[in-house]
This record gives sequence, structure tokens and C-alpha cells, in this order.
Amino acid sequence: MTDKSANLVLGNKSVELAVKSGTIGPDVIDIGSLYKQTGAFTYDPGFTSTASCESKITYIDGEEGVLLHRGYPIEQLAEHGDFLETCYLLLYGELPTAAQKKDFDYRVTHHTMVHEQMTRFFTGFRRDAHPMAVMCGCVGALSAFYHDSTDITDPHQRMVASLRMIAKMPTIAAMAYKYHVGQPFVYPKNDLDYASNFLHMCFAVPCEEYKVNPVLARAMDRIFILHADHEQNASTSTVRLAGSSGANPFACIAAGIACLWGPAHGGANEAALNMLTEIGSVDRIPEYIARAKDKNDPFRLMGFGHRVYKNYDPRAKIMQKTTHEVLSELGHKDDPMLQVAMELERIALTDEYFVEKKLYPNIDFYSGITLKAMGFPTTMFTVLFALARTVGWIAQWAEMVEDPQQRIGRPRQLYTGAPKRDYVPVSKR
Ligand code: SDX
Repeated sequence: MTDKSANLVLGNKSVELAVKSGTIGPDVIDIGSLYKQTGAFTYDPGFTSTASCESKITYIDGEEGVLLHRGYPIEQLAEHGDFLETCYLLLYGELPTAAQKKDFDYRVTHHTMVHEQMTRFFTGFRRDAHPMAVMCGCVGALSAFYHDSTDITDPHQRMVASLRMIAKMPTIAAMAYKYHVGQPFVYPKNDLDYASNFLHMCFAVPCEEYKVNPVLARAMDRIFILHADHEQNASTSTVRLAGSSGANPFACIAAGIACLWGPAHGGANEAALNMLTEIGSVDRIPEYIARAKDKNDPFRLMGFGHRVYKNYDPRAKIMQKTTHEVLSELGHKDDPMLQVAMELERIALTDEYFVEKKLYPNIDFYSGITLKAMGFPTTMFTVLFALARTVGWIAQWAEMVEDPQQRIGRPRQLYTGAPKRDYVPVSKR
């Protein structure tokens, strides 16, 4: 941190505020004492210019389209590693040695089963319940089963809860899918890797042997890596805020799942595919581009734009490559949806509205096409995002809990409501 400072003049008050520098990225102005010194709050709805915390986990450069996890570029992690290696890196801060990786994989693999009583939760839902609603309910309920890892002051319990969350999310997600399609649950198999195990739990049936396609398993694993963490996005900020009150990690992750569900956030992958389906053919694209530009039309191009990336989302490039691999493997390379997506992207990247507003495809633009080709219904897309993002949420939650400066998050407001006034009896209203 440097001894730089910023001066703020407010009326007849002049205050000096400390400026802190990180390893890379923008400086921050420490306004912690601003209210005490000036009686004024800062105002930043949507937090476009606000750093909510100090973190060592993920760095994003929106202008350059850079995404680093503990300093390692997402392109290299997606190319050379696997999802559990990225989980280890996010949780512990360093890439694992071969021995550490083996031990971590073993520990995660041996936490993949859920308490058998959890199956009762699913029968309480309608079969057509949205799987994200099921995930919110079931993940929140995990704290009803795992009392021995809810004491957040105990580092061992924090790590057990983290492992349990990473290990059990695929099982719960697969159960949500199986319940949705009316098929029996499939138990995890310890001889399968993380992504293969998930695909097996989703698509195996008791009647026949299910062979996991290694190309699809690699693609699934890479999709998990691309969604693992993303700095202080809306759902991660939700998890941090929930955790700042001392809530148990399962409840905090359930809060993150609820936030991710929104179409402006993780729900965009489902919305993007629904949009591509609605457009239907290349010749209808201009109509939708016009709607996206029309200020009186709430329609937006789902899968485009980002609060931070004002250049191409680096994950979208890798996602696009994975999409082509999966569609080729499955013989869908002429998928009309892909044709619409590629033409829509080509037009949007040359249209002055999108160029001027720096609206590029984000990770959600191509993920839906890939997941649909792999056999998932659109209602499962955000569930898969939540599955992958769980490690980011839990790593950020742990960092917050371990931060000595940590306090309960409690923002203030600009009040524009009625001034103080006296009660009026109903007879006089
Ligand atoms: C994710 O934060 C994260 O890191 C999220 C995420 C992660 O990994 O956690 O990356 C995952 O959520 C990706 C984003 C998925 N959402 C979508 O694809 C939904 C469509 N995109 C938009 O809703 C929007 O771009 C947001 C929500 C992503 C960003 O919104 P901002 O930063 O608040 O930007 P904005 O809404 O103020 O838009 C700026 C301008 C506006 O025009 P003006 O009012 O300035 O004239 O761009 C326009 C918007 O109208 N605009 C779009 C648009 N997105 C923004 N116009 C058409 N189509 C779009 N998609």
C-alpha cells in the first residue's frame, strides 16, 4: 500500500483520504472515515465505482479482457488444467503438486454422496419445478444435515464445509435434473473424474451401461473452469454479505444461488438460448438488433454486455471454441442455433450501437448452445453455472471470514421519502 492520498472538499470541510494501491489494477480511495469527517455518504447504486473488499483470489481487467485466478490467466488454466485443480488454486492460493492434487481429488470424491434423507426433499417439489428453485431449497437445507461444519470460527469446519459444497453440488444438480425428467437418481461413482461423474449422474439410467464421452467430459470440465469465479459479481457479493453476518456457509451459498438465478446475471445463459430460439433464423436477426437498440423496448441481447468487460470476455472466446468441439463431436456442427449465434455475433461486433457501448458476447452467449447440444434442458443451464461457481463463492466466503478487518456489511442510503409527520387517525383521512 502506498502513502498516496486524495483531498475532498465538501462545503467548508476539506478531508484527506488515504489512497491504497493493489498488486495490479485501479487504486482505491479509503472512504471508511468519510461519514465521520463530513457527515456525508458516498452514493453508488450498482457499485459501478466501489470496491467492496480487498481480495487475492481473482483479478479482472475489463478494458484488456484479462481474467486471472491467483495470477494465472484463465486461458492457461482452461487449456492445461482441470476443474479440481482450479478449485484447489482458488481455495489454497497455489497450484497443487501431484501429491496435493491426488489428495484433494480423493477428498472431494469421497464427499460426493448426499445424506439419503435429502432424497425426501425432492419428492416435495412438483416435477415441473424449475431446477434452480430446487437448488435454492436443497442447498439451503444442507445446513440441516451437516451441523458438524457450520461453526465458521473453526478453520477445520470451514474447510470441511468447502469440500462438501464442491463435492455435493454436482450430485444435487444431477438429482434436480433426474427429478425434473422423472428418472431415478443415479449415485456418484468414485472411479470417475469430477465432470465424468456429473455427466454419468445426469444421463445414466439403470437399464443400460452409460459410457461417458471423453470429449464431452473434457468440455464439461472446461465449462466448469470458465465459470469458477469472477471477482465481486452480484452473486459473490451476495455470498459475502450473507456471510458477514456469521451465517453458515450452506445458507450463504443458497443466497448466492438465488442471486445468480436472475436473467441479468447467471440466468442469462438460459435467456440467451431462449432468445436464439425465438429469433429462430438468420433473416430475423435485424429485427432483434433493432429492438435491442430501441430505448422503449425492454428487450436486450442476452449474452451480450458486461459490467466489467468493455472488451471481449476472455471466457467467451474459450467457450466458443468448446462449442465448436462439442457440436462437431455430436455431429451438430450445422446446428441452426449456432448459425444464428455466429451471425448475431458478427453483426453485433460491427454495429455502431454495440461498438460504441462496448457490448461484446459474454460467457453466457455460447454456453447455452453447448449445454443444449450435450442434452441439458435450458432450465438446467443456470444450475450448471451455480455448480461451477460454488468454488468461487466458497473461496471468497472463506477469504471474507478470515479477513481480520471483516465486519458485518451494512450500507446506508440517500433518503428521499416523506419528512417526519404525525399519525392521522383513520377518521380524519
Ligand atoms: C454474468 O458481474 C459478473 O462478473 C457476471 C458474470 C460472472 O461470471 O459472474 O460475468 C456472469 O452475469 C454475465 C452477464 C450476463 N447478462 C447478460 O448477458 C444480460 C444482458 N446484459 C445486460 O443486461 C447488461 O449488459 C449487464 C447486466 C450484463 C451489464 O449491465 P450494466 O453494466 O449495468 O450496463 P447497463 O445496463 O447500464 O448498459 C449500458 C448501456 C445501456 O444503454 P444506455 O442506457 O447507456 O443508453 O448498454 C445497453 C444499455 O441499454 N446495453 C444493452 C445490453 N447490455 C447493455 N443493450 C442491448 N443489449 C444488451 N445486452
